[in-house]
Amino acid sequence: MNKRLLPGFRLGKYMINDPLVLAPMAGITDLPFRRICKRFGVGLMVTEMIASRAVDMGRERTERMAELGADEHPVSIQIAGSDPEFVTEAARWAVGHGADFVDINMGCPVKKICKQVAGSAMLRDEPLVARVLEAVVAAVEVPVTLKIRTGWDDQSKNVERIARIAEASGIQLLTVHGRTRAQMFHGHACWEDIGRAKAAVSIPVIGNGDIIDGASAREMIRISGCDGVMVGRAVQGNPWVLGEVYAAITGRPIPEKPTAAERWAVVDEHMQQLAAHHGIRTASKLARKHVLWYSKGQHGSAEFRQTFQTMTDWQQMLDVAATYFLSLDGHEQIEESQDAA
Ligand SMILES: Cc1cc2nc3c(=O)[nH]c(=O)nc-3n(C[C@H](O)[C@H](O)[C@H](O)COP(=O)(O)O)c2cc1C
Repeated sequence: MNKRLLPGFRLGKYMINDPLVLAPMAGITDLPFRRICKRFGVGLMVTEMIASRAVDMGRERTERMAELGADEHPVSIQIAGSDPEFVTEAARWAVGHGADFVDINMGCPVKKICKQVAGSAMLRDEPLVARVLEAVVAAVEVPVTLKIRTGWDDQSKNVERIARIAEASGIQLLTVHGRTRAQMFHGHACWEDIGRAKAAVSIPVIGNGDIIDGASAREMIRISGCDGVMVGRAVQGNPWVLGEVYAAITGRPIPEKPTAAERWAVVDEHMQQLAAHHGIRTASKLARKHVLWYSKGQHGSAEFRQTFQTMTDWQQMLDVAATYFLSLDGHEQIEESQDAA
């Protein structure tokens, strides 16, 4: 057995023993998916980003995004915004909804968010970063955490300065996605930059960007010295990767790949939970995305995708998915390149 790589850290009243964090992903890491991910070893959960504009608060969709599961604590509600007043209001609202921590997003590269000088656009205005963070820290009792990219672009990387501003403002945990805004999702995340942030502060730093398995998690930890790891896109259709990363960072044996029956049990549960949480109409749209991800790299997935992605009847979707996933019994997972989506 390997040795445990990360000792964990304290965050407010919680000891985060297993510093494996599920990346917040809008439209993906809703309550149904978080519930599934939790059981693979996630020690710290974060919701999807919720815009802090007051107008969104109280809306049915926003309320649903902030619904937390009894079994997913400690959990953070993530908010984005640039107006200190709106962001503090949203932070209080998040705490009122049961958040153990409030996470502030200054990493989102999406144009719509950046146009409101929120998300990663904030990184260009360091005094504003300080104002927003200080205001939120003063407004809520729970620990406030921050998620950033390494800067706006290669010429203006300011990850160390932002990390110091965050610590000085009372932020208790920093997550660094090792890309600039200009990189969007291209190229490779720079794990050395995560290390620069780590060296600049004494609060725990979570490393994020391009972890795809246990080995890459270990390598990020080696390069950056980060205190925890966050996994995003690799979990799409593959929550089992979290079990692998969990094993890698805690020194446990790597779990076996899921059998066909185990895979179907997760897909089935995910679909049922989507329907219960969002209603069948929205669940059908979301399931189309998730179920196709679950089928990626599996035997006969190209044919399955063709059929499944045009379906609209919920019961039929469940039936077709069951037939497909259970038929995988005895088939080895095939390489994605042989079965390009
Ligand atoms: C579809 C999608 C939605 C995302 N939504 C959010 C979000 O709401 N809040 C946030 O901080 N980051 C968001 N991210 C960024 C991820 O949290 C993460 O930083 C990024 O994907 C890099 O990690 P990875 O290489 O493990 O995917 C999103 C990423 C994707 C692909």
